[in-house]
Amino acid sequence: MKIMLDGGNGLLGYDVAKILSEHHETVVIKGRKDLDLNDFNALREKIGSEKPDCYIHIAGIKDVDDAQRDPVGAYALNTIVPANIALITGNMGIPMIHISSGAVFDGNTDRPYKENDPVAPVNTYGHTKLKAEELVRYFNPKSFVIRVPLLFGAHGGKDRNPILKMLNRLEAGERDLLYTTDQISNPTYVVDIAYALEEVLESDKYGTYHLCNTTAASRYEYFSYIAQKMGYGEDATKPCLMGVKFAPREKNVVLDGSLFEKTFHHPMRTWMEAMDDCIEEIKTHK
Ligand SMILES: NC(=O)c1ccc[n+]([C@@H]2O[C@H](COP(=O)([O-])OP(=O)(O)OC[C@H]3O[C@@H](n4cnc5c(N)ncnc54)[C@H](OP(=O)(O)O)[C@@H]3O)[C@@H](O)[C@H]2O)c1
Repeated sequence: MKIMLDGGNGLLGYDVAKILSEHHETVVIKGRKDLDLNDFNALREKIGSEKPDCYIHIAGIKDVDDAQRDPVGAYALNTIVPANIALITGNMGIPMIHISSGAVFDGNTDRPYKENDPVAPVNTYGHTKLKAEELVRYFNPKSFVIRVPLLFGAHGGKDRNPILKMLNRLEAGERDLLYTTDQISNPTYVVDIAYALEEVLESDKYGTYHLCNTTAASRYEYFSYIAQKMGYGEDATKPCLMGVKFAPREKNVVLDGSLFEKTFHHPMRTWMEAMDDCIEEIKTHK
């Protein structure tokens, strides 16, 4: 199968490109240096000339404060670009996988979110992702909208990967790094997402799915687990409450991934099992 994807030098795109290229021909738009996705004509020409069997749209603005500060840029990249890709691929009859986010929910629940729970984003980022979902479904009936929670991986750039950023600070001697106890998610390994997407590519079960590792953690539990596995003591991290942020945040966005697991016969492991593999990968690249 010939697969075209974007976001190839980002946290998720790096591993998706690497893993899918093991069994498929891949055409990867790594980032703006390859092609600015905001350039509709260039994008249409590229997809039209490559004629892939499937397009995976990964690129986006993920920083919620950046999106809140620059709504025009955020809607352009997070909403208009996926709509354009859906329009182009829809006209060509090509399936599209679109990566969305748990940020479409308001986070005011104490149970994991299912696909058909009411959506109600609390910030600009979540709203850009929600509007993208609607337009992708509208323009390309052969679309998969894949919502993912907080992601982790070993690549994607030292300045963008939250684990590498924390490890850089700890290596520089910083301690008592503050992480919140009142933001809950099910952190998910990008490698596990990449393997799961291989199942999606082979199917025509178009629709909206939550794709995630199982079990939940606060940001504090999650970063403390990593710091300790990397050999730092208990003074590496310190708990705090979210307080006031520039962009409002959702408190509890744990996704229920059972529909994906059942539909694609693809069980997902716990985030801690996945994190142990991720840490080994980080250590081998250090
Ligand atoms: N990370 C998370 O925890 C998380 C959680 C839920 C959902 N998501 C979603 O997952 C997707 C991937 O996130 P990520 O963490 O992998 O993001 P990332 O590490 O920030 O990577 C973003 C990618 O988009 C590319 N890009 C940005 N603007 C572009 C443009 N105008 N033209 C072409 N490429 C452009 C970047 O390349 P250059 O910078 O080189 O241009 C980079 O490859 C996003 O849709 C995000 O909303 C992420």
